[in-house]
Amino acid sequence: MKNEMYDFALEIAKIAGKMSIDLRKEPLKLETKRSHADLVTFIDKEVEQFLVNKILERYPQHGILGEEGTFKESYKNFETVWIIDPIDGTTNFVHQQQHYAISIAIAKNGIGIFGVVYDPIKDELFYAGKDDGAYLNGNKIILDDKKTIRESVISTCMFWEDPNTKENLSKTIIGLARDSRGIRMMSSAALDMCYVAIGRLDAYINPRLQAWDFSAAKIILEEAEGFVRDHKANIINTMEGSSMIACNPSIYEELLNYF
Ligand code: IPD
Ligand code: CA
Ligand code: CA
Repeated sequence: MKNEMYDFALEIAKIAGKMSIDLRKEPLKLETKRSHADLVTFIDKEVEQFLVNKILERYPQHGILGEEGTFKESYKNFETVWIIDPIDGTTNFVHQQQHYAISIAIAKNGIGIFGVVYDPIKDELFYAGKDDGAYLNGNKIILDDKKTIRESVISTCMFWEDPNTKENLSKTIIGLARDSRGIRMMSSAALDMCYVAIGRLDAYINPRLQAWDFSAAKIILEEAEGFVRDHKANIINTMEGSSMIACNPSIYEELLNYF
């Protein structure tokens, strides 16, 4: 895959990953957002600021949609938009210092054309260009094993203050816990979706994600021939928040019975 903009995205994702490790040695200045469990640190903000500066220096004509809101203009005014989650899995980053990622997608006219998800702790770089295949550290990844729910391990994330989780997702998850090989709550949507792409997980389910959580991983999983839909089986818009069913295609029909 030869593309100057994609190479640049890979390069800044890796630098941002190293930055997250270096800055983690300083006091975190922890803040909360929507609830006591929704954390943000100065590192989320500094990493996003670094990415935004780099992107605008190189591509001043592009827009940015970032979780921390560093880019002040509306991304809707731009043809090419970078969608950034500076740290996906902030709670893991704070508590465990592992299983978090830098997630960067590029969309043109609302269609995802490139995605990179970088785990700096494992030094795992997942990326994909639309119609160009998906890669992990330069090796092509294809999801070609066939599974059933009984043979699957499924990841989710449940927020108890969210009524969706209490009423609907809990029934789904209880059913899947009974019938699958197990449920995990690993808490980085971007990485968990990449794990589906390489078969470490067979599905990832979430009642409510934002575009920056999934846009890069969606391209990677789809290019690896995985399946991405919302809870009502609709195709997901890369630029907007959505519920998420990301899975090995061979279990999709069976999975739908649990919703
Ligand atoms: C969160 C993680 C988590 C998911 C949440 C996201 P953040 O992102 O991806 O796994 O369940 O919905 O908000 O806040 O760590 O960037
Ligand atoms: Ca996130
Ligand atoms: Ca984040």
